[in-house]
Amino acid sequence: MSSFLESAMEIAREAGATLMRFYERNVGFEYKGPHDLVTAADRASEALIVERLQAHFPAHSIMGEEGGNYAGSSEYKWYVDPLDGTTNFAHGFPVFNVTLAVERSGQLLAGVIFDPTRQEMFAAERGAGAWLNNRRLKVSGVGRLEESLFATGFPNWRRHQDVNVHFFHQVAMVTHGVRRAGSAAIDLAYVACGRFEGFWEFGLNPWDVAAGILLIEEAGGKVTTMRGQDFSLDAPHICASNAVVHQQILDLFGEVFEGRYRVPLLQITRFAN
Ligand code: IPD
Ligand code: CA
Ligand code: CA
Repeated sequence: MSSFLESAMEIAREAGATLMRFYERNVGFEYKGPHDLVTAADRASEALIVERLQAHFPAHSIMGEEGGNYAGSSEYKWYVDPLDGTTNFAHGFPVFNVTLAVERSGQLLAGVIFDPTRQEMFAAERGAGAWLNNRRLKVSGVGRLEESLFATGFPNWRRHQDVNVHFFHQVAMVTHGVRRAGSAAIDLAYVACGRFEGFWEFGLNPWDVAAGILLIEEAGGKVTTMRGQDFSLDAPHICASNAVVHQQILDLFGEVFEGRYRVPLLQITRFAN
């Protein structure tokens, strides 16, 4: 295991313990945007992660969600989400995580997603594989959309411009179902370990997805945009899967983008009485 992965795991565990201390005390929240929450736990976790990363790798750049940005002198860069699932956290809904990943000149090298409520450490290193605690990860082998479980999420900002409900409906109609648990990194980790066959979302940020992408690729899955293009961290949407159902979900998304519905939405007025 590289020193990057070892350090990332150690730092994520420590940050996870910090989150749990706040969680047990029921911390309050503030608004960063009209519907976008932030807590003292987000800030404390990010401060800790940035401090540890700078101690281990002083030349590396850092991009943290809560403003912990640092321009280093090397080509290495860390993406940090100190608390992914803040809305869940603030409501006492136990689905959240700490996630960090490092890239070199645009290529992701190592990443972790740590769920402190279940003590699940998802870790991946380019070319070496992906693990959940000590178990090697492999995506699910399910080959039919009709037998798949999917996950998605809805952005906290500009949510009046979000079109995802159209995709949600169509995917829900043709699969075993769609889960919306409120933590994109956990969704991606669950694709990597086979709990979900796939995940999609609009408008995520690099720190939400960096570690999850590497986990899925190292576990044998596939990550593109919802239009099937190569994924980059600034892409407007993401589609991740076990690879086997990838083309099937892209075909469905293609229809929805064109306004064609396999199962039309019912007229609500028919249910008024
Ligand atoms: C959010 C979560 C959520 C997703 C949002 C993200 P945050 O991250 O990952 O599942 O739907 O788009 O912003 O704000 O809790 O770190
Ligand atoms: Ca996030
Ligand atoms: Ca966050």
